[in-house]
Amino acid sequence: MRIAFSKSPRPFFYEGEVPGDKSITHRALLLGAIAKGRTVIRRPLRAADTLATLGLIRALGVQVDEGDEGWVVHGGTEVSRDLGIIDCGNSGTTMRLGAGLLVGLGVRATLAGDASLSRRPMERIVKPLRLMGGCIVSHGGRAPLTLGPREGELRGIRYRLPVASAQVKSSLLLAGLWAKEEVAVREPLLSRDHTERLLRYMGADLEESWSPYGEHQVLLKPHQAQELTGKAISVPGDPSSAAPLAVLTALLPGARLVLRHVGLNPTRGGFWKVLQRAGVEVRFQEVRDEAGEPVGTVEVVGPEELRSFSVDSEEVPHLLDEVPVLAVLALKAKGVSSFYGLSELRVKESDRVRAIREELGKMGGAIEERGDDLFIKGGRFLRGARVSSRGDHRLAMMLSLAAFLARGEVEIEGAEALSVSFPSFRDVLREMVEEAGGVLEVYG
Ligand code: S3P
Repeated sequence: MRIAFSKSPRPFFYEGEVPGDKSITHRALLLGAIAKGRTVIRRPLRAADTLATLGLIRALGVQVDEGDEGWVVHGGTEVSRDLGIIDCGNSGTTMRLGAGLLVGLGVRATLAGDASLSRRPMERIVKPLRLMGGCIVSHGGRAPLTLGPREGELRGIRYRLPVASAQVKSSLLLAGLWAKEEVAVREPLLSRDHTERLLRYMGADLEESWSPYGEHQVLLKPHQAQELTGKAISVPGDPSSAAPLAVLTALLPGARLVLRHVGLNPTRGGFWKVLQRAGVEVRFQEVRDEAGEPVGTVEVVGPEELRSFSVDSEEVPHLLDEVPVLAVLALKAKGVSSFYGLSELRVKESDRVRAIREELGKMGGAIEERGDDLFIKGGRFLRGARVSSRGDHRLAMMLSLAAFLARGEVEIEGAEALSVSFPSFRDVLREMVEEAGGVLEVYG
């Protein structure tokens, strides 16, 4: 994909919706598969990652109809005992949450992934799932994961996650639905809580508490799998897909963006706070609750000037996937912006800390990587360059935004990674690029 501007981009106005939340779509499919009756998933994310989870539940023998209403999952039926090899593609959520569910069911399966997923750490779920009595092994701490039937019921566990991770927490909660004792998961900071919200919405009994030191604990009562009932789940727009559009707006003084039906869960809301700190006007309207999740309309206006900003390590779990696009915001803001405690970004679809520095560096971005912190000096134009997404969808988004700050053509290799979470991003981007006076060309 190539993007070029011959003069400074003009501000645009864009109004619309973004595709459904990736995290919530995965969870709706997995819980829908085991809940009694019909789960109707409205506005699901239809993208490579969530289609991998759809494939997993279909391999279990669960019927899923695709229609105008969305996806209808006919759950709670007898499942297949041997799934063979399941291809999780690029999706860490399919593999980690899927492993929890399949360990709970005690079925035989091999979970495999693409080259990127096969490099990511899996021992973080394998270890606690085995402590619960699950039959699961990794290959040297990585995929493929081999799962098998076990003798007897799963045990409960009290487990403290070394780092906040929604995927690990959710994996244990999903397996824990079949445990004969309580499952308590503590994490140093509250990671996204979609699993807890959906479990509760579908009838599970769980309690949440905070320690005096700010640690969060979720406690699931024993034998909850049979308590789940199929429901209508309306999936909000993904805030991680709203974020790149919001950053684009923030880069162009006077640009305006109105996005309806965006997920406003506070555990995903760190991005909006940073945007406001940088001097961007962000307004939330018509906030309401749908299927246990807050949703609403977001309006963003591009300011005359952006302020540099600092992101603390405690905020990172709440803007985890938005750091790459915030790096572009930092490149426009005058002064030095800092991001602290990004260690978890190193084990995403790519090492995002290094990739941010190296890829934006090719365009002349002044970025320093010190330990797991990033320091970005903004306020200067970038130059055209040939850059690579490294097969990572969030980096492909980041690089397309950076093109708005560049003088000259930016060629992004591996832009097809966008299909992982936001297949229509290129069309939305093309509209914005053209309105801003530039050209977008897709090849290959
Ligand atoms: C996700 C959790 C996050 C995030 C990922 C999706 C989820 O990972 O980066 O894109 O759906 O639970 P963590 O396991 O690091 O929280």
